Amino acid sequence: SQPLRLGIAGLGTVGVGVVKIIQQQADLLTMRTGRTVTITAISARSRNKDRGVDLSAYGWEDDPVALAKRDDVDVYVELMGGSNGPAKASITAALDAGKDVVTANKALLALHGQMLAEKAEAAGRVIRYEAAVAGGIPVIKALAEGLAGNRITRVMGVMNGTCNYILTRMEATGQGYEALFDEANKLGYLEADPNLDVGGIDAGHKLSLLSSLAFGTQVDFDGVELEGIQRIALQDIRHAADMGYRIKLLGVAQMTGRGLEQRMSPCLVPADSPLGQLEGGTNMVVIEGDSVGQIVLRGAGAGEGPTASAVLGDICDIARGYRYPVFGQPAGTLTAAPRAQSALP
Ligand code: NAP
Ligand code: HSE
Repeated sequence: SQPLRLGIAGLGTVGVGVVKIIQQQADLLTMRTGRTVTITAISARSRNKDRGVDLSAYGWEDDPVALAKRDDVDVYVELMGGSNGPAKASITAALDAGKDVVTANKALLALHGQMLAEKAEAAGRVIRYEAAVAGGIPVIKALAEGLAGNRITRVMGVMNGTCNYILTRMEATGQGYEALFDEANKLGYLEADPNLDVGGIDAGHKLSLLSSLAFGTQVDFDGVELEGIQRIALQDIRHAADMGYRIKLLGVAQMTGRGLEQRMSPCLVPADSPLGQLEGGTNMVVIEGDSVGQIVLRGAGAGEGPTASAVLGDICDIARGYRYPVFGQPAGTLTAAPRAQSALP
């Protein structure tokens, strides 16, 4: 069978993780998909940076748009980030050139996912984004495939590894959150703009993507009520602990009689509950469906290996020919949900 030829733009934490799996697990990927998964060409800002992997066998493009349009690329893998600029331009170019797309870019999809999904559908292409939500946890597949026969009533959880890492390390070390940025950065958790993490915006992006898929509505990031962790002080964490609680940046999305409620904010959760026991960069997503009841997914929400694992899941799906859309079916018929403000202050 034909090899699946990738063009990868972005060789940072996630991009390098993806290259490593493709280099180190070639046989496994062929066994799983029946095809050879190869990298045709790559792109990043700096060509000469030592990234700790051998990239000499791959072609190079300075411009991700040129990479996305290459005739010898079947799937364009966007791992640069950014809600506009080269990420948006190159994904658009890839779809226009008849390529499938895999991305980890929740910021882009939260703002432009609807447009891109409709474009992909019109072109008969797919966009996959498992790595964009909850890192290594296959929550998009769970909602799109395994739970497809359910009416989803609620999706909630901890969806930002940086915030969970910082909150749990504040508790353990007694340091303020600014002091813990370096630690989170070394683990590869931070967004290029860490305000997206601590401001709750990154987690809000993820919640808006989950809501769209869960409730079959257009992505509505502007409808997410947002509050970050910047104002959480050590005293708050200590007082919470004294009462048997921990503070988590918790997202909740539910369809109410008044419309779709989406909220991402610091919440008190019982310390002995599953959510209360999450440490470090771990994420947890709780999904409630009318037939399945409640299911709980837990795992690493950020970092090289877990995020690359999710990207490879999408690449393998495309190699196998699984082409179901993951924005709700079909994207062109999705409507905007009425917004319900949550009852909480
Ligand atoms: P990163 O370490 O900052 O890497 C970004 C890469 O993109 C770098 O290699 C950079 O090139 C390249 N790049 C940036 N602008 C470019 C441009 N204009 N043209 C070509 N290349 C460009 O970021 P990351 O952590 O891997 O994250 C990548 C994406 O995955 C983001 O959308 C992020 O939100 C998402 N994500 C990350 C994680 C995680 O745990 N890190 C988890 C889930 C999703 P240089 O290296 O030459 O500067
Ligand atoms: N900055 C994100 C986080 C990366 O900390 O969760 C994973 O999406």
